[in-house]
Order: sequence, then structure tokens, then C-alpha cells
Amino acid sequence: MVEDVRTAADIVQIISDYVALKKKGRYYTGLCPFHHEDTPSFTVTPDKQIFYCFGCNVGGNVFKFIMLKENLTFPEAVRFLAERIGIALPSPEEKTPSRAQQARDKAYVVNKLATDYWHKLLLKGSAGAEARDYLNERSLDETVIEKFQLGFSAPQWDGLLNYLGKQGVSHSEAEKMGLALAKEKGNGYYDRFRNRVMFPIWNHHGKVVGFGGRVMDGSVPKYLNSPETELFSKGNTLYGLNFAAKSIREQEQAIVVEGYLDVIRAHQYGFTNVVASLGTAMTPEHGKLLMRYTRDVVIAFDADAAGIRAAVRGLEILQEVGCRVKVLAIPDGKDPDEFIAKYGAEAFKQLLQTHSKSLIIFKMNQAMASRDTSTVKGKLAVFEEVLPNLARVRNQVEQEEYLSVIGRELNLSWETIKGELNKYRAETGKKPFAGDKFDKNRHNTYISASPGEHRNLGLTETALERAELTLVRLMVENPGLVSQVKQRLGLDFFRDIQLNRLVQLIDQVYLEKGSCKPDQLYNYIDDSVLTAVLGRLLTREMPTDHWEQQFNDCLAMIEKAGVTDRKTILLKEIAEAEKAGDFQRVIELTTEYKNLL
Ligand code: GTP
Ligand code: MN
Repeated sequence: MVEDVRTAADIVQIISDYVALKKKGRYYTGLCPFHHEDTPSFTVTPDKQIFYCFGCNVGGNVFKFIMLKENLTFPEAVRFLAERIGIALPSPEEKTPSRAQQARDKAYVVNKLATDYWHKLLLKGSAGAEARDYLNERSLDETVIEKFQLGFSAPQWDGLLNYLGKQGVSHSEAEKMGLALAKEKGNGYYDRFRNRVMFPIWNHHGKVVGFGGRVMDGSVPKYLNSPETELFSKGNTLYGLNFAAKSIREQEQAIVVEGYLDVIRAHQYGFTNVVASLGTAMTPEHGKLLMRYTRDVVIAFDADAAGIRAAVRGLEILQEVGCRVKVLAIPDGKDPDEFIAKYGAEAFKQLLQTHSKSLIIFKMNQAMASRDTSTVKGKLAVFEEVLPNLARVRNQVEQEEYLSVIGRELNLSWETIKGELNKYRAETGKKPFAGDKFDKNRHNTYISASPGEHRNLGLTETALERAELTLVRLMVENPGLVSQVKQRLGLDFFRDIQLNRLVQLIDQVYLEKGSCKPDQLYNYIDDSVLTAVLGRLLTREMPTDHWEQQFNDCLAMIEKAGVTDRKTILLKEIAEAEKAGDFQRVIELTTEYKNLL
């Protein structure tokens, strides 16, 4: 069963749901989801169906990845993947889903019912006519109305409740799902959404988790959204991500806007990498969600928005989690929807290309607008505002580029601003990124490498170390070789304890299962040191041509080294035995020594 899932799950595809991966020859790389980094050191090797991060040493097979990412136990991860790839698992001991899971599943079904119900009302009959006109007036076409499953909730107080009731959904259930409200004094329930254009909100898995409803006149509130429920949390949801994910990955850029209409308009005009934060400030969860697909994020909002300050804070949150953020302030007091509707796709594309500014430059321009930059004091004050952001840029080239732009804009010398930056760093005593440390509360996914522990895997290798590693590398690929090695040397001849453990494990798995693929091996490893050793080992070049020759050479070298070691030990022991007057022992040891010669 585990094996079925393991062989059916494609690790690249699975991990792609979490990390933006790029093909590089025989493997894929991306930014490690287990520690903070700016340059990719996370690798996925499809041949071997494994992942490994050079930065934090976390590695494993597809199960391990899901265990870490979704915080699951091994059996849970197997089940999770089986479901994801559509393998039916036999249920052991009559496994019923937990009550919470059942409730969640039901809520998804009910949300789908509501989506369909409102969508039909919009498309058919006299009730939806006003809403159809409204959408028409806003020139939204059929394709996006269909794609985004827009709907209409009629003015009556119990339209949805009645419909759901017929489908076996109780009123109180509907209330828990945020679709109905309780009347005063326990007098029953009524529809939360009435007489509004309805926008289903999907999570990134494509399941409806909530709704937004917009009035069609000027009444307030303009939008009504689902309350926070078990399924729905604004801070965790990006509207449109289910549709945009693929294109974000392909274009290596996400555009974040504020509202439903901005997203829908953008998609209608071919900007399919657009998502919305639904009027809330960006959260770290939003950022992490985006980081699954790309780190390049453009935030597009109206330039005269009162909330520029709040927006900038949101951007900094994105930057904190590792996004490379740009800002597009849309001119003429328009939001993206209005801009695109008025000027068209080409104009918006131009705007994106020419008006997007990096967060730092944007902030600097903001600061410049509110200060007197004719004095050095004023200039430095502006510079101070962007210093924290600048100090966080870890890429040296990128940072120097910023320095020169800032220097030019403020007419300050490079030395001056570089000096200020260094001073700031010294004062705050900070490494560039607060999130620089490996994510420690995530299991033990990195090695706390004490130098001796796996010295063989360090930077400099002796010929002997190289031979040991090559030999183990070969055995990992061809577990059939283990028996040959075992016969000749035994199984604990490696100087590195971890290598001995690994070889013994290969031997054991191979005997028990009749096969031992690298990713299979990971299922039997649960400590981080061995995980890392295997990870690094697998990233070594595999000897290809004439590997049998290499195998024999390595074996011979290790054997010889073993003999040399043994001789040294024997000489020492002989001397000790002589000193102690134990002549019986001296004879034994000397015989062994002679045999070795
Ligand atoms: P249109 O006015 O139809 O173009 O929508 P919009 O998306 O441009 O609205 P706006 O820019 O005013 O607001 C952006 C987002 O904030 C909306 O899409 C909603 O998610 C949210 N929002 C706006 N107004 C309200 C409100 O009155 N209540 C709530 N809960 N959310 C709102
Ligand atoms: Mn708008």
C-alpha cells in the first residue's frame, strides 16, 4: 500500500504545489520551504524521487516532504497523498473520518450547493435580471461570470435556507457555515446574503470556503463577506489563487490587488496571475501561500488610497517571509479594475512594466514627498526610512544597485550611504534577515553538525574518505552489491559511524523487501543526522563509466586501510601486553600481525 502510493506519486508534481521549482538538468531547484533563503538550494531529483536542501540539509522522499509540510505523521502522510493522487486505500480497523473532518467535508458540499443555487438565480429568471444588468453595466463577460461562478442572492429572507433545507441541510448548520443568521430570541434563522451579487471564494485547492456579496446600489455595507469559519479565514485566503496558481508559476510573478472585481477584470483581460487580498492587510500566511508559486510579487493598488501606509506594512510582511516585492501605484485615482476597463490590457501591461517600483524605492519616493530633500539632514532622514528595508536585502549585487539608485535620487555619495548602512548594521547588530535562522520548531530537519560527527562529508576529503563515500554511493544505487562488500569486509568497516548505519540499513531493507530504492530507504530513517548524510550522499556524482572497476578499487583501498589500521592497533597492543607481562597475549597478537603481512 505504502509502496503503491510511493511509486504513483510524482515528487516533482507534489512538491510543485508548495515550492516554485525550476528545471536544471537532471533535477529541479527552488527556494527551500524549510528555511529562509534568497538563492535556491533546495533540490528535487525526479530520477530518485527525493528532495534535498543544501542549505539546511533537510531531505527525504515524498512522504517525508508531506509530513514536514502538512505536519502529519507517516501514516497520515501516506493517506494524504493517496487521496491527492486518487489511490483508494483499504481502511484499516474501520477508519471513520474524525468529526471535525466530517463537518468540514459537509461544509464544502454545502458551499458548493449555495454556489450553484446563486449562480442559477443569476443566469435564469426574472429575479436575476437586475444583477445581470449590473454585471453587464460593469462589462463583465460571460466567460468570467462562468469561471468565477458569480451569482445572485434574491431579496427574500429565506431563499437559500429553503433550498438548503430541501437538500437536508438544517438551518443551524447553515448558520455555522456563515450562510444564515439567527433571529433574535431564538426565533429561527434568515439568509445572511440577500439581494447581492455573489462571489464564491475558493481556497487554493479549489474548494469554496466562503462568499462575498456586493450590493447593486449605493447602500452599505457595499460588501458583505462570510464570517471567519472553520473553513474560511481572510488572512489565509487569496481570492483567485485557485485560478491563478498555474500562471503565477509560469510567469514567475504574482500580482496582488485589493478586490474581487479587480481580480475578475484582470482575468477577463488575460492577466491570469492576479489574486486579491480581499480588503485586508497582507499577512505572513498570504506571503507563504504566494511563495509556493513564486517569490516575485507586485502589489497593485490605487495611488491615492488612504491606506498607503497600511499597504507598505503589508509589503514588509511579504518581504519578511522572503518575497521580492514591487509596488504598482495606479495613477488617476483608479483601481486596477477601473484602469483596465478604461485603458485596456496593453496599457496595463505597459504600466506594470514601467511603473512597478521595488518596495525600497517606493518607500523612498513616499518619504521624499513629505520631506525637504534640499538639505543633507532631510536627505538622511529619507534614507533612514528605507534603511531597515535595505539592510534586509541579502543579495550583495541587489543591495548595491539600490544604493546607487538611492544615491542618485538623493544626490548623496555612495560612500555616505554605504557608511550609514554599515553603521545601522553595527548598531542593530543584526544579520540581514530576522528570519535568517533555520525554522527550528519544525521537527529536527537540519543537522546540528558537530564537526566530528560526519567529518567525512565535510569540504575536504581524503582519498580514503572519497573511496568510502563512493562505495556507499554505489551501494545505495545497487543494493545487490552489499552482499559482496559484506563478505569481504563485514558491515561496520567504515570510519564514519553514519555510513556504517546507512549500509546496515540498506542491507536490512534489501533483505526484507527484495529492493531498496533511495526514496524507499527514507521510510526507515527517522533521525536527522542520517537523513542529512543520505541526502548529501545522493547529491554526489554517481560514478558511471567503468563503475565496477571503481567499486573494486574502492573496496581494495578500504580493505588496505583497514589492514593498516589494524596493524597500528596491534603494534600498540603488543607493546602493552609485553609491558604487562602477558606473553600468551603477545604471541596471539604477533601471530595476527604476521598474518596481516
Ligand atoms: P467595486 O467597488 O465593486 O469596484 O469593488 P472593489 O473591489 O473595487 O471595492 P473596494 O476597492 O472598495 O474594496 C476592495 C475589497 O475590500 C473588496 O473587494 C472587498 O473584499 C473589501 N471590502 C470593500 N468594502 C467592504 C465592506 O463594506 N465590507 C467588507 N467586509 N469588505 C469590504
Ligand atoms: Mn473597484
